[in-house]
Amino acid sequence: MGVAYKAVQWNRQKFVYDIILLTTVVFYLFFFEGISLHFSSDLDIKGIWIRAFGSAAFILLHVILSIGPLSRLSPKFLPLLYNRRHMGVTMFILALLHARDALAWYHDFGNLEPIVSLFVSNTHYADFIRFPFEALGGVALVILFLMAATSHDFWLTNLTAPVWKALHMGVYLAYGLLVGHVVLGALETNTHPLLTLAVGVGFVWIVGIHLITALREAQKDGAPLFGPPAQPKVDADGFVHVGSVQDIPENRAKIAVVAGERVAIFKYEGKISAISNVCQHQNGPLGEGKIVDGCITCPWHGYQYLPESGISPPPFTEKIPTFNVKLQGDQILVSAKPNLPGTPVVPAVIGQV
Ligand code: HEM
Ligand code: HEM
Ligand code: FES
Repeated sequence: MGVAYKAVQWNRQKFVYDIILLTTVVFYLFFFEGISLHFSSDLDIKGIWIRAFGSAAFILLHVILSIGPLSRLSPKFLPLLYNRRHMGVTMFILALLHARDALAWYHDFGNLEPIVSLFVSNTHYADFIRFPFEALGGVALVILFLMAATSHDFWLTNLTAPVWKALHMGVYLAYGLLVGHVVLGALETNTHPLLTLAVGVGFVWIVGIHLITALREAQKDGAPLFGPPAQPKVDADGFVHVGSVQDIPENRAKIAVVAGERVAIFKYEGKISAISNVCQHQNGPLGEGKIVDGCITCPWHGYQYLPESGISPPPFTEKIPTFNVKLQGDQILVSAKPNLPGTPVVPAVIGQV
């Protein structure tokens, strides 16, 4: 959390993850080289390393894309989520090495600059079989570069979480382009059925796990996956019923969807307060956190907010929207309209009518 800006601390656990990540990547690259030298005598060493870097980046991209949904399905995967950015950067470096070697290998001998040659040497854009698959890889690489270049928390703070998140969704576009790059390119030259099968299985896995997670999330929110969301019951004062006080354990929250937005409703010291579920740091789910030292504490990286105002305790300056709350017996009602970020709200007192 930041007075102006402060990075999430480096710690021993992150260090261990990075060592495991780098060791696995190096092991894979040399394993790939060994196997290729053994089994395919027609490829020279440069060609093998182009494939080793490309396939390592592509596999790591599958891992990166699986972490989001997996950590929604089970909290066991959350530690991977915190480490995802280092995987992203590693993947980008591998992709860059692959592209550099491929450009040097296939485009360095003509009169044109290799980058220009990449886009103009093959212009069969309407031909499925001869499609210039390398250009697809080039566009994907530019997207991955933008993500890696803006990856630091500094950019997150300055671009704001929603803009930054939108930028990160570009990874799905990059993935689509890369599936095209591999299917139209590598599979034309490298027709081993195992490679075709692996690309297919990878694609089905990524689409499948995202669909399963989307279904589960929609179920949790009580919303249908397709079609218009069910309209919540809004009373004359604009308040929505979100459940009973007994639903919420002490110092924890219940997440409810109010007017299309997720709201975290916390119970603590005999009181109820409601704030936006979205952490200002990296959109972490605040309602899955708990109250520590009187503050709502984000489960992802520990940013804190006061339940009555949504403001981070001094000297920090983050602010998130609050919601007015009231009780009818043990039933909790939350205003359908959020207050401006940091607006103090009087908590509803349990047992007081
Ligand atoms: C290099 C610096 C990077 C950093 C700091 C970073 C960090 C993050 C963080 C913290 C999120 C969570 C935001 C949210 O869910 O609201 C996120 C989203 C995402 N990032 Fe990155 N990332 C980086 C690069 C990459 C790269 C290069 C890729 C893939 C090629 C990638 C893939 C994704 C995906 C797929 C999401 C959104 C979907 C999801 O929540 O699973 N990231 N990134
Ligand atoms: C300017 C960008 C790029 C160029 C010029 C390029 C070029 C190539 C070429 C020429 C091949 C065929 C190699 C062969 O079959 O011997 C190839 C295959 C491949 N590329 Fe790229 N590529 C680029 C970007 C990327 C990126 C960003 C990724 C992934 C993150 C990627 C992943 C792959 C994979 C997985 C293969 C198949 C490897 C195999 O056959 O085992 N490429 N690329
Ligand atoms: S502290 Fe990082 S997302 Fe909340």
